[in-house]
Amino acid sequence: SAEKDRKPRAPVIAIMGHVDHGKTSLLDALRSTDVASGEAGGITQHIGAYQLQLATGDKITVLDTPGHAAFAQMRTRGAEAVDIVVLVVAADDGVKPQTIESIRYALDANKPIIVAINKMDTYEANALKVETDLLQYNIVTENMSGDVQAIPVSAKKKTGLKELAEAITLQAELMELKANPKRNPDGLVIESRFEKGRGAVTTLLVKRGTLKRGDMIVADEYMGKVKAMMDERGKQLKTAGPSMAIEVMGLDGAPMPGEPFAVVEGEQKAREIVEYRQGLKRKVTASQPSALASMEQMM
Ligand code: GTP
Ligand code: NA
Ligand code: MG
Repeated sequence: SAEKDRKPRAPVIAIMGHVDHGKTSLLDALRSTDVASGEAGGITQHIGAYQLQLATGDKITVLDTPGHAAFAQMRTRGAEAVDIVVLVVAADDGVKPQTIESIRYALDANKPIIVAINKMDTYEANALKVETDLLQYNIVTENMSGDVQAIPVSAKKKTGLKELAEAITLQAELMELKANPKRNPDGLVIESRFEKGRGAVTTLLVKRGTLKRGDMIVADEYMGKVKAMMDERGKQLKTAGPSMAIEVMGLDGAPMPGEPFAVVEGEQKAREIVEYRQGLKRKVTASQPSALASMEQMM
């Protein structure tokens, strides 16, 4: 598409790090609501995706990933789907296995990292130790004469939030993120679930184009018309442009997180693609992901 059609878009941020280091709490503090307390046992079970407005006034889209060891795949997908990784490290606990794993995913996916050193309100907090330990993993913060921004914060006391917001805004500005809102929409499946009376509810991240209610979607090996589309607060939307994360209803199944989605012209075309994908999935093994990737060009 022509360069003039590409418009600035909001950055998509993944919040990653070790279990219980305060990822969800930090997001809550950034948007000043309280989701963490509503989660069973305070363990994030899935990737939550939503928009929030920073203290700088800028809108960002965030993916809140779980820190539990069992969710390694979600960290991979999280890192791939986003523009910037905010690595949350608890200042009283330091660099832990899933911290290291998160760094590896971010570096592998070639995504810039901002370190949020959380729980600075605790007696044991030691930001310098965190920054020193990060050196071994090739994360050289500004205090260590590198160029990775590291921001001491407390989600609990709500300190450092403005600085963190500014760090995110600065990094995003450097990247000059753009997308064409007019092209045919596509993006990624973030998560999906079945709900009583609602069927498959799928969270999608729109990368390019503008998704509209009534569009025919193909995602993974499922298809359907977008019957309803809402933001994380349940507000009904008619359209969702680049960088938006939205929940959609209308797919005939629950596609796998990380799979691409696209909008196609009409039900017959959708059915052809779905059948092709189902056939291909039967043929290819998990060790041949390139074959799956190549069919994306058909869409
Ligand atoms: P997972 O999603 O399970 O990986 O956890 P998480 O990283 O999202 O951590 P969560 O926000 O659930 O917080 C874990 C615990 O740390 C909770 O008890 C929070 O209240 C506490 N916590 C989070 N941020 C802070 C902070 O800044 N200071 C202190 N003292 N406690 C915090
Ligand atoms: Na937790
Ligand atoms: Mg969490």
